[in-house]
Amino acid sequence: MKKTYLLALPLIIGLLTSCQNGKQSSNKSPEKSGPKDTTAMVNDPHSYAQPEKAVVSHLNWDARVLFDSATIVATATWDIKAPEKTDQIVFDTYDLSIQEVKVDGQRADFTLGAFQEDQGRPLTVSLPANAQKVRIDYRTGDSARALQWLSPEQTASGSARFLFTQSQAILARSWVPCQDSPGIRFTYEADVQVPKGMLALMSAQNPQEKNETGQYHFEMPQPIPSYLMALAVGDIRFKAISERTGVYAEQPLLEKAAYEFADLEKMVQAAEELYGPYAWGRYDIIVLPPSFPFGGMENPRLTFATPTILAGDRSLVSLVAHELAHSWSGNLVTNATWNDFWLNEGFTVYFEHRIMEEVYGRDYSEMLASLTRSELKEDAAAMLEERPEDTKLKLDLAGRNPDEGVTSIPYNKGYFFLRLIEEEVGRSRFDTFLRNYFDKHQFEVMTTEAFLSYLQENLLSAEQYERLQIDTWIYKKGLPENLPKVPSQRFAKVAQALEEFMKAGTLPAQKQTAAWTTHEWLHFLHKLPDSVTVNELQRLDEAYHFSQSGNSEILAAWFQPTIRAGYEPIYSRVDSFLVQVGRRKFLTPTYAALQESGRADLAQAIYQKARPGYHAVSRETLDELLDP
Ligand code: BES
Ligand code: ZN
Repeated sequence: MKKTYLLALPLIIGLLTSCQNGKQSSNKSPEKSGPKDTTAMVNDPHSYAQPEKAVVSHLNWDARVLFDSATIVATATWDIKAPEKTDQIVFDTYDLSIQEVKVDGQRADFTLGAFQEDQGRPLTVSLPANAQKVRIDYRTGDSARALQWLSPEQTASGSARFLFTQSQAILARSWVPCQDSPGIRFTYEADVQVPKGMLALMSAQNPQEKNETGQYHFEMPQPIPSYLMALAVGDIRFKAISERTGVYAEQPLLEKAAYEFADLEKMVQAAEELYGPYAWGRYDIIVLPPSFPFGGMENPRLTFATPTILAGDRSLVSLVAHELAHSWSGNLVTNATWNDFWLNEGFTVYFEHRIMEEVYGRDYSEMLASLTRSELKEDAAAMLEERPEDTKLKLDLAGRNPDEGVTSIPYNKGYFFLRLIEEEVGRSRFDTFLRNYFDKHQFEVMTTEAFLSYLQENLLSAEQYERLQIDTWIYKKGLPENLPKVPSQRFAKVAQALEEFMKAGTLPAQKQTAAWTTHEWLHFLHKLPDSVTVNELQRLDEAYHFSQSGNSEILAAWFQPTIRAGYEPIYSRVDSFLVQVGRRKFLTPTYAALQESGRADLAQAIYQKARPGYHAVSRETLDELLDP
């Protein structure tokens, strides 16, 4: 039986071992290299591309979305630049069938190299001297891992089919032949034909309503890496929230979504005040069908979101703050490779908490920080046992699926690393530093090493750098002892109430719990001891109706103690939830709890039913967990 470590950020427990190839990038810092041409400097172990020879700069994508055969038939025409004299360019592909390749209008020779699990095949195209444009005619395959084709029954409308993509980390290559490395940026335009009656949206300038023809045009004038390419197609509606923000969803969810995200404009303004102007024009959110495998995905201009954040009371909108924050950390300043993933996610969690503090107050954001800390301590302890190398901020994912790096570490250890620096230098200096960092490096890639030099040059003295143990934080395992503490008075009261319940059986009083937010309840549920009995759980359920909660976070947290204690009444709710929802963060710990509590039979039975409805990203994780 396998163990999952992460309640909040489940991961694949890899069968593959890390093969160190010693090719870590020791690049010169982008800030020292003058113009924004940083792409060719970093060796990315997860891409076949050789950008130092020939690199893409713009994509013209012409596509037909065919629901009947669940394929996209498309032409990708790439503008290329060849920094060196070269006679070939290499793209990444995954299960694409390539019909024809032309270079500057002439048919060109190409080869598809050997298939490697996760990475797919390199597509190598021969180039004449001074080649400008490479045109690739292709169609997607049955195992296009980025795509999920949904039947009407899997959507909110129940009446129209739906398609969405998920490209991060290295799945873009399964729907567009591309140089699929976060260090390579390009602008794009697209013409997409979808069935009449449907709307298509991309991570680009988007239409707000359906047209008669089903033909849509898109432009993304800012350069982005391939993992931010995104497409959604369905019977989708739009509702404005402010002049520059809004929400897309299927009709039945539109009003609910608009209510939930009412503070969107406030969040964008708070973010801009903190770290500078929003660089992407509009900021919209699309609420996807429940099989979307993540909470959110920061596709530029159009965040993709799970419907499980529609709690009805705006209590889960920190996820929106998170995806919005990526408009700076990640989308503007981008991790050079997936080994530097903490630069995307750690900065984003820090920024998310700052936005939440601005909009909802310090008390509130400190509850979030406290939850982050508990989760980190728990996950780091478990990971130190089984995969200690992955508790370093700077990862070594060569030879593995970068998905294995998606753990609490880059997110939460990354967050506390930045919080430590903030506590050292004070807020105002740290804010100035971050603002300049985003400004100076916008539309560039960043390596861990370049960031550390920048930190030394612009913020920390040598003495501070030593004393804070910066290198230990980045390159050593586990959690340094100067991990910042988060005093939360609100949580202290919750802990007290829990103690009284466990000791004396006194239920927290209604007049106390009436003021509790979702986060206080989550703290309460997370801290229930392993010794909690079925009887006690039943009393809690009767008093607070957790099993009927419409809040996905509370429900998923409630599944843990109840499944583990064998609280029978929970199983039917667990069953319906796992069949309905495909968000991996909820699936992995719930299936794991079933398995670990002696109900592997139930886990298998539910998985068999639910699996066809899950996105490939979730399927791959769960296949490994449930079918070792
Ligand atoms: N970019 C990530 C999602 C992601 C990471 C997808 C790596 C594929 C590979 C996104 O910003 C994210 O972190 N989402 C979190 C929510 C967040 C509030 C922690 C999620 O989906 O749970
Ligand atoms: Zn993120």
